[in-house]
Amino acid sequence: MTSSPDAPGPAPDRPQDLLAEAEAARAFAHAPYSRFQVGAALLCADGTVQRGCNVENASFGATICAERTAVAAAVARGQTRFVAIAIAGPEGVALTPCGICRQVLAEFSQDGALRVLARDAAGAPFATTLGALLPSAFGQAQLRG
Ligand code: THU
Repeated sequence: MTSSPDAPGPAPDRPQDLLAEAEAARAFAHAPYSRFQVGAALLCADGTVQRGCNVENASFGATICAERTAVAAAVARGQTRFVAIAIAGPEGVALTPCGICRQVLAEFSQDGALRVLARDAAGAPFATTLGALLPSAFGQAQLRG
């Protein structure tokens, strides 16, 4: 499932830079309930990077993950084509997007090619794809029959 961040494919030029953006975004997480702060950095097809962080709520179910805040902010400024997303969580945790975020990311990655960058429990960067994380995703193709 995982590969080197230098693996071939539509990867950002410098995966470590995108991870650094995600780590910087993490500082803005609003996570007073779980204390589990997450940052995301979404590399858009126009070369811009959109940051996101988790935004928790006293009504717990209203919480939004870092990945989805990044996607929403990018879409709100007209970006709907994405190359890669990096996510950063607490040290020592191998983090991958939750199921809801995988589905939201799939909306903008019909072929599953979106690169997903994170760190493993030892802190080493790894790369995978949305297609590997969410095979056989439900999407527009199914809706249209
Ligand atoms: N969270 C994210 O923001 N992204 C993930 O990939 C996993 C979980 C957030 C949601 C919640 O605020 C906290 O982490 C604990 O689940």
